[in-house]
This record gives sequence, C-alpha cells and structure tokens, in this order.
Amino acid sequence: MTIHIGAAPGDIAPTVLMPGDPRRAKWAAETFLDSPRLVNEVRGMLGYTGTWRGNPVTIHGSGMGMPSLSIYANELIRDYGATTLIRIGSCGAMQERVALRDVIVAMTATTLSTPSRGIFRDLNYAPCADWSLLRAAVAAAEARGVTPHVGGIYSSDVFYDERPDLNEIMTRHGILAVEMEAAELYTVAARHGARALAVLTVSDHLISGGNLTSGERETSFGEMVEIALEAAFPG
Ligand code: HPA
Repeated sequence: MTIHIGAAPGDIAPTVLMPGDPRRAKWAAETFLDSPRLVNEVRGMLGYTGTWRGNPVTIHGSGMGMPSLSIYANELIRDYGATTLIRIGSCGAMQERVALRDVIVAMTATTLSTPSRGIFRDLNYAPCADWSLLRAAVAAAEARGVTPHVGGIYSSDVFYDERPDLNEIMTRHGILAVEMEAAELYTVAARHGARALAVLTVSDHLISGGNLTSGERETSFGEMVEIALEAAFPG
C-alpha cells in the first residue's frame, strides 16, 4: 500500500495502461482483460489487474492533469515496480490535417510547466516517448488499418485556457494536439528508467471546433486500448 494506492505488493503488473478517467479503467479492464480484479479504489481512482493474451496487465486511472498523474506514476513505478506505462486518452487537435477520431502517438510532449519543473529550473528538458513502445504502437495501429499521426503534442495545465496565443504558437510549431498529462508521464518514467508512451484520440478540434459524441468516444477509446496492449506485447 502507498498513500494513494491500496493495492498489495505484487498486485500491480509491470505493464500499466493509464486512462484519465477511472471508470474508463474499469470498462477497459472488464472489456479487454481476462480475470480482471479491482486492486485499487482509494479516492475512487480505480485500478484493475488481469491478463491479456496471458500477459499480466494493470489498467489504472491517472486523474486529470499532470499533478494527479504524477502521484500515480511515481507510486506505480517506485513502489510497485511498473516498468511500462502507456497513457490512453483524448486530446484536442491543433492542426487542420488532424481530424476528429484520428489517433495520435506522441513522440514528444511540450509544456509550459510540469510538476517536475522545479528540478530542471532554467533547463528546457524535452519529454520524449520510449522508442520501442512508439514503434510498436505505430505498427499495431497500421496493422489495424489506422494511420496514426506521430509527432509532438502539448501537455497543458489548463483546459479552460486564458492564453489562446500559446495554442497558436504550438500550431505554428507543428504541435499536433493538446492534452494534460503526457509530459509528466514521460519525465517521471525517464527519471526512474521506465518506458512510457501516450496514445491519444482526437475528441475535439481547436481549429474547426468539432466534438466527438459520447458513443464515438467509447469506440475510439476501445481502439486505443487495443493499440496500447498490442504495443506493450508485440508479436
Ligand atoms: N485541451 C486540453 N486537454 C484536452 C483537450 C483540450 O482541448 N481535449 C482533450 N483533452
């Protein structure tokens, strides 16, 4: 047990999928894993462990935003020995060519700040995905007939943004989409020698203004879970 995770030692698998929403963790575990069992419910942040094609997997919510994700990523890696962490989530598109429901595999995650900012001070650290996971996720998506966008994303601290000029700068610098967690996941994983990746689907469009319906969100979410599992256990 840790401060925020009630799982017993050994209850968390080395591979952890992390959706933001704890109820999505429950749905994904019950839909895709064999013998899923609840291993955490502290503060309603649900985590389940089961197997996928015989491989142990935990699916655990991260909550919204980098401070929340940072708590869970730190405890999962440092206290429970997680070695592979894949965020599965939604994002807002920042390029015209990126459409609603498209899949984005985040190579890097730019930020204004992360909970790790205090460590780096004046250094501009570049949070970066694990290459072996990134390559496997792209292959898994392509094998399903999905061509993902692969590139940089923006991990913001705010959903209701009072600085639209920042979004415009991100768009001009080729950033594909905005979300709120990946940069800290990449940073914490790198610090502790773990592998990390974010696989995202576009739920809203910052340029055209469109949104996915809740039914469309669920279908896209299922596709991401499968891509993440196939990336974690290729072949
Ligand atoms: N902003 C930040 N995070 C998000 C968005 C957004 O527009 N869409 C999905 N996650």
